[in-house]
Amino acid sequence: MTQEQSTPSGPDLTRGVAPGELVDGKLLGHVGDQDVLLVRTSEGLFAIDAHCSHYHGPLAEGLVVGNTVRCPWHHACFDLRTGEATRAPALSALACWLVEERDGQIFVREKREPQKVASPVRSDAPEKIVIVGGGAAGFAAAEMLRRREFRGSIVMLSKEAAPPVDRPNLSKDYLAGSAPEDWLPLRPDDFYREADIELRLSADVSSIDPKARQLVTSGGIVRYDRLLLATGAEPVHLAIPGARQLPVRTLRSLTDCRAIIEDAKGAHRALVVGASFIGLEVAASLRTRGIDVHVVAPEAIPMERILGADMGRFVRALHEEHGVVFHLGDTVAAIDGRRATLESGESLTIDFAVVGVGVKPRLALAQAAGLAVDRGVVVDAHLETSAPGIYAAGDIARWPDPHSGENIRVEHWVVAERQGQTAARNMLGDREVFDAVPFFWSQHYDVPINYVGHAEHWDDIAIDGDIRARDCLVQYKRNGRVLAAASIYRDLASLQAELAME
Ligand SMILES: Cc1cc2nc3c(=O)[nH]c(=O)nc-3n(C[C@H](O)[C@H](O)[C@H](O)COP(=O)(O)OP(=O)(O)OC[C@H]3O[C@@H](n4cnc5c(N)ncnc54)[C@H](O)[C@@H]3O)c2cc1C
Ligand code: FES
Repeated sequence: MTQEQSTPSGPDLTRGVAPGELVDGKLLGHVGDQDVLLVRTSEGLFAIDAHCSHYHGPLAEGLVVGNTVRCPWHHACFDLRTGEATRAPALSALACWLVEERDGQIFVREKREPQKVASPVRSDAPEKIVIVGGGAAGFAAAEMLRRREFRGSIVMLSKEAAPPVDRPNLSKDYLAGSAPEDWLPLRPDDFYREADIELRLSADVSSIDPKARQLVTSGGIVRYDRLLLATGAEPVHLAIPGARQLPVRTLRSLTDCRAIIEDAKGAHRALVVGASFIGLEVAASLRTRGIDVHVVAPEAIPMERILGADMGRFVRALHEEHGVVFHLGDTVAAIDGRRATLESGESLTIDFAVVGVGVKPRLALAQAAGLAVDRGVVVDAHLETSAPGIYAAGDIARWPDPHSGENIRVEHWVVAERQGQTAARNMLGDREVFDAVPFFWSQHYDVPINYVGHAEHWDDIAIDGDIRARDCLVQYKRNGRVLAAASIYRDLASLQAELAME
């Protein structure tokens, strides 16, 4: 994650550089002790903070598209003219500097004043916007509303006890013990007060009345002019004896994660049920804590359904190199205290178990309110549900994806945030179509896997590079068309694949 800069990179840009020093229109240098990226586009020269405001990704290794630069790590996008983070997962703007070209040299001058990025809120903007959900989509929507200078009331209702956190970290660095808890909040507590966002925690919304434009929470009735449903998904529990008893955990919230960390203290062996992203990220984090990990899953090859057999075999081998023991083609029949019995008859003594066998979207509220639901809350291209004025975003939303031509629902952090941002703008009266190419990442030890696009079925997989050497771009195709691409340490190619799909 965040790395402290010790020595600034490249030339001192205040002393001037020759135009020829820019390679592919970019040059990484510094101003004082800060790394600065100098970029030439068809509109001119720009200088911007060289590190992404998400996890500090190196923008010099990213892709310049028009007047923007995209981060190589998780595809955030920044406007080079203003520094604005125009696409999640980055939410904070970057600093920009003035640039001057004189006597055949390029000089980076003083820092520019932060630019106003908001376009004015329309006069018919709603007075009160309520957001149900304190996760990726809900938070990104609230932040965007204020970024757009919406001055009306924002109420954010979240069932969770903690303010919005960086959920992907809960199975990665934080669970592994390598990230402190203060990295988790998406914003410090005082952000909500300063931005005048009324964040109500441990607030359970029990029903919505679309006609009366109000909803019922544990604290009473809340009226709204526009409503965003961003209730996310919840872990599926095992339907076996002992599945709901301790020490059997699922992982969605910070509370869940803290409980697993407590279980891990002094534990010798953990059972992980499920060999998909959450299960295997948890396995990696627990191995980092020195705990023996046994993974039980019914499939023959982990992640084959999403990444194909070759990537799946690589992921398995990677975990085995780190000491994970797999029990594939098997399931857990019962857990009785510290004894887990597998369907095959094998029995394991464990200290605790983490179940990662998938999630289901939380649709109950939408269903009871009479909204159209089809394995997700059905939304149109603007993310509006079948009830006018009610929008949905994130893990619950099934939207018309212009790239695949299908109505899809995904469970990706970046998609949830970007949908929250689009829904926010549309609640203010914009008519923005949600057309972002889906993107997710996953991290296993030191190996990041990036995935862009959406391929539920494919008839061909093209591998460029070498998966086992951790240097590859794997393309999933149907009828010759690339639907999605997974990559390991081919960040630029992943960005280019995204651009091609756009
Ligand atoms: C451990 C973990 C690791 C992950 N890692 C990655 C990753 O590496 N990359 C990736 O792309 N994706 C990852 N994901 C998936 C990603 O976090 C989700 O896709 C994303 O959080 C979805 O955002 P959301 O806003 O739809 O839902 P959430 O973030 O789940 O937020 C839903 C919110 O709604 C609230 N809520 C629900 N019902 C009610 C109610 N009735 N009343 C009030 N509040 C309610 C919940 O309490 C919660 O605050 C991970 C998920 C988990 C759990
Ligand atoms: S570090 Fe840039 S998008 Fe994550």
